[in-house]
Amino acid sequence: MKETDVLVIGAGIAGLTFALKTANKRPDLHITVLTKTNREESNTRYAQGGVAAVWDFETDSYQKHIEDTLDAGDGLCDEKIVEIVVKEGPERVKEIIEWGARFDKHGPDYDLGREGGHSENRILHFKDYTGWEILRAMLEKAKTMPNIHIHDHYFAIDLISQHHLGRVVTRLTPDVECYGAYVLDLETNSIETILAKTTILATGGAGQVYRSTTNPVIATGDGIAMVYRMKGRLENMEFVQFHPTSLFNPAGENPAFLVSEAVRGFGAILKSKEGEEFMHLYDERKSLAPRDIVARAIDNEIKKRGDDYMCLDCSHLDKEKFTAHFPTIYEKCMSLGIDPFKDLIPVVPAAHYVCGGVKTDSIGRTSVKTLYACGECTSSGLHGANRLASNSLLEAMVFAHRIYEQVIVEIDDLKVQTGIPNWNAESTSDPKEMVLITQSWKELKEIMSNYVGIVRSNVRLKRAADRLWLLFGETERLYATTTISPQLCELRNLITIAYLITTSAQMRRESRGLHYTTDYPNKHDYIEMVLR
Ligand code: FAD
Ligand code: SIN
Repeated sequence: MKETDVLVIGAGIAGLTFALKTANKRPDLHITVLTKTNREESNTRYAQGGVAAVWDFETDSYQKHIEDTLDAGDGLCDEKIVEIVVKEGPERVKEIIEWGARFDKHGPDYDLGREGGHSENRILHFKDYTGWEILRAMLEKAKTMPNIHIHDHYFAIDLISQHHLGRVVTRLTPDVECYGAYVLDLETNSIETILAKTTILATGGAGQVYRSTTNPVIATGDGIAMVYRMKGRLENMEFVQFHPTSLFNPAGENPAFLVSEAVRGFGAILKSKEGEEFMHLYDERKSLAPRDIVARAIDNEIKKRGDDYMCLDCSHLDKEKFTAHFPTIYEKCMSLGIDPFKDLIPVVPAAHYVCGGVKTDSIGRTSVKTLYACGECTSSGLHGANRLASNSLLEAMVFAHRIYEQVIVEIDDLKVQTGIPNWNAESTSDPKEMVLITQSWKELKEIMSNYVGIVRSNVRLKRAADRLWLLFGETERLYATTTISPQLCELRNLITIAYLITTSAQMRRESRGLHYTTDYPNKHDYIEMVLR
């Protein structure tokens, strides 16, 4: 059993922002940070386009960024939260610049890119690997802080609550508390109990629930599933964002390689493989319409034409400027024999971001006491029914900061819980056939991609729910009798995520933002929706 002042689960932009600030302000606190594989691997690492922040006040304003965010969110954003993130965002960006993160410049000014749904150029970026650069700067900074202890290959299995003290905890229990986590140390293969005065969940997204996703293989929704199991509050799980333009690769790739929306912001145009433009049929903003609209348009064109992909035309763009801004994308295309200046780049939508998650308030509190959450695992109220491009790095930093401000004040009054039992692994044995786990993973991804994708219907959702129920039963039986492994835990977590997305989609009897169903193609107000 280990004790720490603060347990941070996750070392992406959300977990590290919190840890760095807290460690700096309170060198007396012991801060434990966990990653399930290694600290360099996270969704943060792959962020391409950049960070949206109001920077040039001559052309841009907070009000414009607020309106763009609300417009994308399609009526479900929390306006107070949107205002907080937009107005506090630039300060947070300045701080990471002070920590050493670089952003591209034109002379003395930052080079501000444009992405879909933004009415102004406001995306700060470092070439097309902004996330990698931010993570690099943060990990360098963390090395200088002796009270930050990062443990790689420490897989959090479950959050600890009164349930582990033998109390009955239901979704109606008002005072569920978090005491830390049970964690599988993958090097020793032993399960440790880590007890903390306060726990910060920063476990990122869940894109791996779909067959094709831009998210790395670690994105299995562990944090969201753990909070669901501990009876914490979640919301908006039906709103899964599909990025319109992942690179079509007939060989299949996991994760799918992203062709940043910033490429369209730079002037690339969506076309069919015959070179025909089609976005004007869907939205006056054409290739730069918000993501939900562009992804649905591409999906529709692919189905209508019977093609495998649509294309991005970059042939008219300035080659020197393009390769300077998008070196990774250029190299990746060339490695597959696609020359962006001679060939059309084949693209398809891929699961990219779960807008819903652990419900948090304006200071990152969850419904569970001493459990805070920030970053992609949350539903903070910023994104509503659809996230505006490049708003998530910003959101993670703003709420990590707000949690830090709260934690440094209240931590001195908190204690580590006593009497927590160690993990009970009795009556379990090593898995005899890994194929039971790997096959269920494949089935799960097929179910979600075929029935709970960009376009949904009652029949498809019902079919998904029925099949998920079977997978759930099989996996729970396996879990009860098999030694814990990351693969089994991830499968179990993904089934929970799939169940949450599917049942939330069944409940939303309207089409709004990222949730589109052919049975209810219009938007409805809440009462109307419930009565239907
Ligand atoms: P992550 O960065 O995903 O970090 C999660 C951490 O949690 C990891 O350290 C992981 O090891 C750990 N973890 C997870 N589960 C466990 C467990 N069970 N036990 C222990 N540790 C665990 N957003 C933008 O704003 N701008 C962009 O340009 C942009 N581009 C993107 C491009 C791609 C290809 C992708 C995939 C996403 C992009 N996004 C972008 C989204 C953005 O990158 C993420 O939303 C954001 O980085 C999430 O940060 P996070 O800290 O919440 O989670
Ligand atoms: C991109 O670069 O297109 C991704 C931006 C985002 O997901 O916010």
